[in-house]
Formats: sequence, C-alpha cells, structure tokens
Amino acid sequence: MAALELDTLTKSYGALRALDGVSFTVGAGEIFGFVGSNGAGKTTTMRIVLGVLAADGGTVRWDGRPITLDDRRQVGYMPEERGLYPKMHVGDQLEYLARLHGLTPQAARASARRWAETLGVEQRLGDEVQKLSLGNQQRVQLAAALVHDPELLVLDEPFSGLDPVAVDVMSGVLNDRATAGVPVIFSSHQLDLVERLCHRVGIIKTGRMVATGTIGELRATDRPRWEVVGPTDPSWLAAVPGARVLSQAGDRTVVEAAGDGQDVLRAALATGPVHEFTPSRPSLTDLYRHVVSDVVSEEVAR
Ligand SMILES: Nc1ncnc2c1ncn2[C@@H]1O[C@H](COP(=O)(O)OP(=O)(O)OP(=O)(O)O)[C@@H](O)[C@H]1O
Ligand SMILES: [Mg+2]
Repeated sequence: MAALELDTLTKSYGALRALDGVSFTVGAGEIFGFVGSNGAGKTTTMRIVLGVLAADGGTVRWDGRPITLDDRRQVGYMPEERGLYPKMHVGDQLEYLARLHGLTPQAARASARRWAETLGVEQRLGDEVQKLSLGNQQRVQLAAALVHDPELLVLDEPFSGLDPVAVDVMSGVLNDRATAGVPVIFSSHQLDLVERLCHRVGIIKTGRMVATGTIGELRATDRPRWEVVGPTDPSWLAAVPGARVLSQAGDRTVVEAAGDGQDVLRAALATGPVHEFTPSRPSLTDLYRHVVSDVVSEEVAR
C-alpha cells in the first residue's frame, strides 16, 4: 500500500487565500485526523486531493509520484455536501457506485450487501435514501465510500450526526481498513474521538498547518502542566513566575508551568495542605485550544 503526500498546496478563492502551503503525509495503514475551525480549509484540502477542485500550486503525491486520475478512482471519498441521490434505493445506489468503479454486476451486488450489513443498514437496501434518518444516510454514505474497496479513504466529517453506536461501528470500520494498509484521512470537530482513533493529527488554521504529529508529539511541544488539589485562594500561584492557571474548580487547579513543578508544589503548600499533585496530560482539545487560541470561526477572523 502507498502513502498520500500533500506538498505545499495553495488555493485562493478570489482575494481569499484558503490554503497557504498545506503539507502533510498520511502513511499506509495510518488514520490521520484533520482538525481545524470552521472555514480553516479542511474541505478545500480534501477536494484538492480528490481532484474535484484544482490547487493553484503544490502537488498531491500518491506512492511517491503525482496522483493521477486512475489513482483517484481508487479513492473512497465522503464529500462534505454528501452525494447520494435522494430518490434512489439504497441498494441500487451502492451497486451503481461500485459499477462506476469497475466492479462486475455480481461483485457490485455482493459488495453493496456486505457493506450495508457491516454498517447495519441491510434492512434498508430496498428503501429510498431520502426515507432514511440522517444517521442512517450517513452510514450509507460510508458504505458508498467503501463499496469499491478503495486504496485510500478521504472522509469529510464522517462522524457528524452519528449516534454513539454508529460512531463505534464507523470507528471499527476505519480501524479495520487502516489495518489492511489503507491510509485514512478524516476531518472532524469531535476532538475526543480524533484523539482516541487517530495515529496522527494535523491542525489547520486559516489555511496553514499549525501542528502535525502524534498526540504525544504535539504534547511534547506544550509546556508541562500539573493538577493540584488543595489551595482554594485564587492568588496562590502568584509566587511562581511564568506559571498560569488553566482551569480552577473548587480546590482543583490545573496549572501550566515550566520546569519540574517543584516550585508550583511549594507555592501550593505555602497556602495549606495539598491533597493531590499530579502531572496532567493535555487532551487534544487542550492542545487544539492552545495552537488555535480562541479564534472561534476562521471566516470571522479573515
Ligand atoms: N467555493 C468557494 N468560494 C469562495 N470561498 C470559498 C469556497 N469554498 C470555501 N471557501 C472559503 O475557503 C475557506 C476554507 O473553507 P473550507 O470549506 O475548506 O473550510 P473547512 O475547514 O472545511 O470548514 P468547516 O469546518 O466549516 O467545514 C473559508 O473561508 C470558505 O469561506
Ligand atoms: Mg468543511
């Protein structure tokens, strides 16, 4: 199996620079979580990978060479705007898509059924897509992306609108495809899910990658943090230069500070008993907040 490489992609819509040198790699068998605020450039990037949108500059490589039309036919894509025909029956639709990708009628039918079963929508094969609930339509969308046994998966917010069981099913399918060697890239705003599922993560902000790596690698660039249970006086940390309170609830404070934390502990003890003092690992949500700061919408920021 091959790797997908994005090399300094640029894209403008008129005066708006939507992508400004986006580069990252998704290796064979790797699940890559693509995160960023609304309007940051995720969908634009994925459309360029698929070739439904042309980049102004930069290169998409597959297996070390510029991606071709033939390669792109081997991609399983879940577009943001979703692409099912509302009045077509689920089974017909899946078979049709499989046929479009070159499967024989028999193989297309078998694959449609297999993926419908895996995703728990086999009872709906004879129903029109528009009669399905949003989450079930989404399951069919994933089946549509998988029905031709793709060599690369590009999924734009595949988890939005899914119930917890469907999230588990979808996660299982992505893990399974990755284990088979397929590079998987998906965008999501559900950072806990991304943290749980992805081998690597890329954070995009106003068209630029601001962080790429494993969660561990992203954590390593963050300052150490400590969770302290004891002091309730809000000013107890003032004695430690450069330290910052990240959150405080009752007697539980999360502190960011350089060094080994001993000065934080001393400052805490100076105010009274300390019941707990532990290094605290930032979640992806914490890391994300840090690199993206508090820009709520990239569109507003532009
Ligand atoms: N067809 C278009 N014409 C003009 N501007 C566009 C077009 N498509 C996207 N943009 C702009 O490009 C920027 C990137 O949009 P994009 O859809 O890639 O963001 P996104 O990261 O997918 O956001 P979201 O999380 O909301 O889906 C935004 O500022 C958006 O307004
Ligand atoms: Mg998008």
